[in-house]
Amino acid sequence: MRSKVTIVGAGNVGATTAQRIFDRGYADVVLVDIVEGLPQGKALDMLESGPVLGTDASVIGTNGYEETEGSDIVVVTSGIPRRPGMSRDDLLLTNMKIVTSVVEETVKRSPNCILLIVTNPLDAMAQRAFQVSGFPKSRVFGMAGILDTARFRTFLARELDVSVEAVSAFVLGGHGDTMVPIVGGTTVGGVPVSRLLSKQRLDEILQRTRDGGAEIIGLLKTGSAYYAPSASIAQMVEAVLLDTKQILPCTAYLEGEYGLDGIYVGVPVKLGAGGIEEVIEFELTAEEAAALKQSAAAVEELVEVMKTSE
Ligand code: NAI
Ligand code: 2OP
Repeated sequence: MRSKVTIVGAGNVGATTAQRIFDRGYADVVLVDIVEGLPQGKALDMLESGPVLGTDASVIGTNGYEETEGSDIVVVTSGIPRRPGMSRDDLLLTNMKIVTSVVEETVKRSPNCILLIVTNPLDAMAQRAFQVSGFPKSRVFGMAGILDTARFRTFLARELDVSVEAVSAFVLGGHGDTMVPIVGGTTVGGVPVSRLLSKQRLDEILQRTRDGGAEIIGLLKTGSAYYAPSASIAQMVEAVLLDTKQILPCTAYLEGEYGLDGIYVGVPVKLGAGGIEEVIEFELTAEEAAALKQSAAAVEELVEVMKTSE
């Protein structure tokens, strides 16, 4: 029997994620959205690609939750995206209500699922999902670090004219302006990046990474990124379903690790069948540790706003 993955939100990120997972063939997919016909139409279109791709997996679209029952993973992408001039934090209260209702509906029907949160502002939405679901922290986490790291790796690989696979890097912290690239641990073919690029050029690439989401919004004008985000989500889904135990930057609930307590923020984790099986503690420089604390403080501010709005 195949695993079952529910994706809530059949917009750009949700539908592209559904397609990536369906194409792999090892999971049946349920796509949920409030817009009538949208998830049904996209799911049917995907299903009809099965004979060409050689996959017998199922993908269905729905405006309800009955079909999501017994899901192994629920990916939450429902919400409003950023438009030009908006920060991720501008989405807070609207998306908080959407994530709350989606988590309530899905966990009722899939009490043993893993919740993978994508909706922005990501770290605050993961915290909300953790609170609403009552799930253990290993089964509620968010996607951001793989995306931010992929952007950093892309820019470095293009700059140095090497394969993206030669670039090893981790971007930690919150998904926003306070993200924390671990520069000391960034290598290209095993060589520290600081030996290959001037400080000024490296700083420019770091800034482009921080602005990576805004750069795409500026170009698209009507929405935000979804190809790299959906590839990042699919990697996390695969790590869980295939129990790969990869070490990936994910948004996880911390209880003392990195000197942080009771907050969601991006850190390296071991991802496998149990969800977050371990938070990996890198040795950070004093500067990186301080930046991670500052990033967590920015998430805390949003969590406080959510509390006072209830
Ligand atoms: P989109 O606007 O294309 O799709 C969002 C979908 O959610 C829409 O189809 C909408 O009808 C649906 N929706 C709204 N309320 C709903 C509800 N109560 N139940 C079910 N569906 C509902 O937006 P896009 O581009 O897919 O982005 C989705 C979210 O993901 C945004 O919050 C965006 O900021 C975030 N995002 C996060 C990333 C990350 O790294 N964590 C990366 C990219 C996007
Ligand atoms: C991104 O970084 C909008 O969070 C989204 O592209």
